[in-house]
Amino acid sequence: MNHTIIKTEDLHFSYPAPEEGTTPVVLDGVSLDIAEGSFVAVLGHNGCGKSTLAKHMNAILLPSGGTVYVNGIDTSDEDRLLDIRRAVGMVFQNPDNQIVANVVEEDVAFAPENLGVPPAEIRQRVDDALKAVGMYGYREHAPHLLSGGQKQRVAIAGVIAMRPRCIVLDEPTAMLDPIGRRDVLNTIKTLNRERGVTVVLITHHMDEAAQADRLIVMSKGRVVADDTPKAVFSRVEELRQVGLTVPQTTQLLWELRQEGYDVPLDALSDEECAQALYQLLK
Ligand SMILES: Nc1ncnc2c1ncn2[C@@H]1O[C@H](COP(=O)(O)OP(=O)(O)O)[C@@H](O)[C@H]1O
Ligand SMILES: [Mg+2]
Repeated sequence: MNHTIIKTEDLHFSYPAPEEGTTPVVLDGVSLDIAEGSFVAVLGHNGCGKSTLAKHMNAILLPSGGTVYVNGIDTSDEDRLLDIRRAVGMVFQNPDNQIVANVVEEDVAFAPENLGVPPAEIRQRVDDALKAVGMYGYREHAPHLLSGGQKQRVAIAGVIAMRPRCIVLDEPTAMLDPIGRRDVLNTIKTLNRERGVTVVLITHHMDEAAQADRLIVMSKGRVVADDTPKAVFSRVEELRQVGLTVPQTTQLLWELRQEGYDVPLDALSDEECAQALYQLLK
């Protein structure tokens, strides 16, 4: 279980300068190990470099300095690009930009076809992937008629059909309504727990980040916190300094603590928070 699926070593990155001159450093020495089978959330203010980091995780971008390894392969090794793309799949924010076919099952088949999966195996993989995201019943539907959450689950199925060991999702729920968000998040959790797919979830929703095993907080191209969600959220002041707000439960408990009440800061879920308040009032 402790196999490292993604490793970044002192990763630095700047986008190429348009003309003469330099561009700002976007990633400023990021060193991370992502363990196979884990569910890692990455949180951070807009522009802190989350998407840039994500794109290094399957060689869409290559480091300006330092090294990224996917399953032990240096991502700058061009000959191994296909192996890298097979190991780590990406899901982006806008589901409409990820749909390529007019029928759901053809859409899901597209990526494995491109990766050279034998046709006989594709049928099985597509059915399996659609079942995994709860969209099998829609296999013959037109993707553009689906809801945002359903489209995003089809996009996830397209990635799952490649049988990656890891999926990196870059704010996959940002454009979805609450029901779509919930369904996509449940799908992601199920893939992680039941299939052992490593998940890197980039999000700006605290409640989503709270459900991961591990939470990485970024600010200005650096990792500023890396711990369990409970431990990270209890560092209320530091999170505020990097422009993030904590979940409402933590905020309430923190304010009570400021007033001198002895309540735990790590009562993250509504139930735990209610329990902590009950203990206090009793
Ligand atoms: N293609 C690009 N060319 C130049 N600068 C970019 C490009 N994409 C992002 N940036 C800049 O890099 C920084 C980090 O962006 P990004 O990784 O998208 O952050 P996040 O996903 O955390 O919002 C921002 O300052 C952004 O303006
Ligand atoms: Mg982004």
